[in-house]
Amino acid sequence: MKKIGVLTSGGDAPGMNAAIRSVVRTAIFKGLKVVGIKRGYQGLLEGDIEEMNLSSVGDIIHRGGTILRSARSKEFINEKGFQKALDVLKIFGIDGLVVIGGDGSFKGAKKLSESGISTIGIPGTIDNDLGYTDYTIGFDTAINTVVNAIGNLRDTSSSHGRANIVEVMGRHCGDIALYSGLAGGAESIIIPEIKFSMEEICKKLISGRNRGKLHSIIIVAEGVGKPYDIADEINRKTSIETRVTIMGHLQRGGTPTAQDRILASRLGSESINLLLKGEKGRAIGLKENKIVNLDIDEALKANKAIDKDMYELTKILSI
Ligand code: F6P
Repeated sequence: MKKIGVLTSGGDAPGMNAAIRSVVRTAIFKGLKVVGIKRGYQGLLEGDIEEMNLSSVGDIIHRGGTILRSARSKEFINEKGFQKALDVLKIFGIDGLVVIGGDGSFKGAKKLSESGISTIGIPGTIDNDLGYTDYTIGFDTAINTVVNAIGNLRDTSSSHGRANIVEVMGRHCGDIALYSGLAGGAESIIIPEIKFSMEEICKKLISGRNRGKLHSIIIVAEGVGKPYDIADEINRKTSIETRVTIMGHLQRGGTPTAQDRILASRLGSESINLLLKGEKGRAIGLKENKIVNLDIDEALKANKAIDKDMYELTKILSI
């Protein structure tokens, strides 16, 4: 192995830059040449590639977004685009590829490794929706962003005696809602993995009101959707004025937390160790604070379960 490439793909996540830095610096330390591939798989098939050195990744560990930029490439998914990507890898003499992204990006990495390219996947997504790893890069920053927003909403919620619905991202996964709801002391958390009852949510709001509670925060995962309908129903059933805040892409930006930078640095470096050991088609993750790696296909198939105990705890603590 002489030359490796690194790319970020899919939705960006805070900490991706720290991962790129770790990949590039470890590779150079171990005597490899490194190129950065811009705009994910789209930049790969277009040959949008540049050589990276130690200073290309200077002063980025604390920055959100990704210096390599990102994309969701439709062209790469079709056979012609995929073949173009393979040709580009050959022309540039890239022997190993590190892909930082979520499940869609991992599917691309799997296909490349089946075509003989040594590819390693690093989980970079705010969603925390990959079952094989306890945490993905960007998740911790995203939940901290939501927790800060909950604090602000609590102030105005108390001033006006309103309920506030906060819709958070996560696709089909309720982790952002669950973790930020627990840390933010939300009254109710609505996630796609667990059936919810509007009656119960309204009953809790009313009993809180009767105790003199002025604020109410209800977190709704985007996988459940319809935050405005939920607000209308609360309004109708409780007469409590309810407002909706969609967190949206605010959750994807911002300076990464120490936790995300540490995770990114550890996983980025390990990707180079694996490539140098001759491994390919592996996904790296963290289980019980230990770095693990497994076949990318197994990683994609791993069941992502919601932490039911944590969910029950949020119910107890918000009575
Ligand atoms: O996968 C990350 C994520 O932010 C999801 O939580 C969200 O559903 C999606 O990406 C939004 O995608 P886009 O930025 O393309 O609108």
